[in-house]
Amino acid sequence: MSSKNAIILAAGKGTRMKSKLYKVLHRVCGKTMVDHVLTQVQAADMDNIVTVVGFGADAVKEELGNRTKYVVQEKQLGTGNAVLQAESLLGDLDGVTIVVSGDTPLFTTKTFENLISYHQNKKAAVTILTSKAPDPTGYGRIIRNDLGIVEKIVEQKDATETEQRIDEINTGVYAFDNRLLFSALHKITNNNAQGEYYLTDVIEILKNEGQTIAAYRMNDFYESMGVNDRVALAQANKIMRKRINEEHMRNGVSMINPEDTYIDYGVEIGSDTVIEPGVQLKGKTVIGSDCYIGANSEIRNSVIHDNVTVTSSLIEDSEMMDHSDIGPNSHLRPHAVIGKHVHLGNFVEVKKAEIGEGTKVGHLTYVGNAKLGRNINVGCGVVFVNYDGAKKHETDVGDDSFIGSNSNLIAPLKVSDHSFIAAGSTITDQVNKYDMAIARSRQTNKPGYFKKLPYQKD
Ligand code: UD1
Ligand code: MG
Repeated sequence: MSSKNAIILAAGKGTRMKSKLYKVLHRVCGKTMVDHVLTQVQAADMDNIVTVVGFGADAVKEELGNRTKYVVQEKQLGTGNAVLQAESLLGDLDGVTIVVSGDTPLFTTKTFENLISYHQNKKAAVTILTSKAPDPTGYGRIIRNDLGIVEKIVEQKDATETEQRIDEINTGVYAFDNRLLFSALHKITNNNAQGEYYLTDVIEILKNEGQTIAAYRMNDFYESMGVNDRVALAQANKIMRKRINEEHMRNGVSMINPEDTYIDYGVEIGSDTVIEPGVQLKGKTVIGSDCYIGANSEIRNSVIHDNVTVTSSLIEDSEMMDHSDIGPNSHLRPHAVIGKHVHLGNFVEVKKAEIGEGTKVGHLTYVGNAKLGRNINVGCGVVFVNYDGAKKHETDVGDDSFIGSNSNLIAPLKVSDHSFIAAGSTITDQVNKYDMAIARSRQTNKPGYFKKLPYQKD
């Protein structure tokens, strides 16, 4: 039976990245490059996907999990040697095998599918996916004869000056007849400028054996971009960002300046939401409909429901319910759950706290390790004192209570519903229903004292 297989090359160190992180684990719009490649390959409905790992093997395996099989390339002897490692899993199969590099994050499923059907129509031994590069430097060049038939691929470092002028490049993606691929791989040598076993040499070997070599040229060079250094990484991010933003806009999201809006792959946004410049939406974030996300806000791994307003604020691992609002300059730290119609104003920090429907926390307040009920008014400059230097403690504030400005609520503490805390109080003991708690020293007035001051004026 004819099988459809994919090999993803991800064993290289990525020396040109000058990084502690293995190249294929660098991120493009929040997702590692190799994960982008695997996601697109998976959607092309493969019978087998094999990822070749070497440098950082454990980290790559942890990243991709059981969505692919793995083989290990012990020494990074070149792309040809890398593909050969997959022989133990694929060697006995009839069918087609595509090879893709883990450092080409912009390829789409559609392109893989087009390549495979072109390859099958041509009944070729190998079909090289090529494109025309505005600047081909660094890529392997496609060498065609006078009839336009592909003869071989020459790597940048092995190319003559004339060959270097060729702008048709090898994208690093190929469709092979599976059996011919592995038989040719046993014949390649490392007799070249880099002393490596090049996968690209398979082309010339098959050609010399009289096999059909095809080339499928894609129009969009940028989709095929290989990322070998940080300059290309930034460029790949820019291209992916544009793709992501355009898709959201087509789905009804407004962006004031899409060139300056940073949305990770996989973020969801409802229609009629407006996103201002400088916004960053990261990780597993979901934004509802009719929201307004103001300039320079950053939202990470959070769920924002419908009709929410976020003004220049930072939100991490938190949730905001319908019609709530926050900012400017406020911060939801992990595990803040903000109820419906809650208002969080300027310079408010909330951490590991639940705030009930309709409650208002207007200004300069810290709420940590707390549960607040509904319709509470928290004044300006209130501190939920949650830490005793060793442990965190909880504060519970009941519905409809009033916390006066500049109060300290020292946890562990229970403030019942319908209670009132006078401004400037430091509260250490439970406050009961309908009580007013006042905990501050009494005011003393000294009559005529002003006149005794040395700098007194009449
Ligand atoms: C390769 C191609 C080049 C093509 C370019 C497209 C070869 C010899 N050259 O060059 O023709 O234009 O991609 O982007 O194939 N890898 C391994 N084991 C190794 C070496 C590399 O797994 O021993 C992996 C790397 O992790 C990477 C991929 O193979 O994901 C490509 O390797 P890289 O060094 O980036 O090749 P390029 O120089 O870009
Ligand atoms: Mg590369």
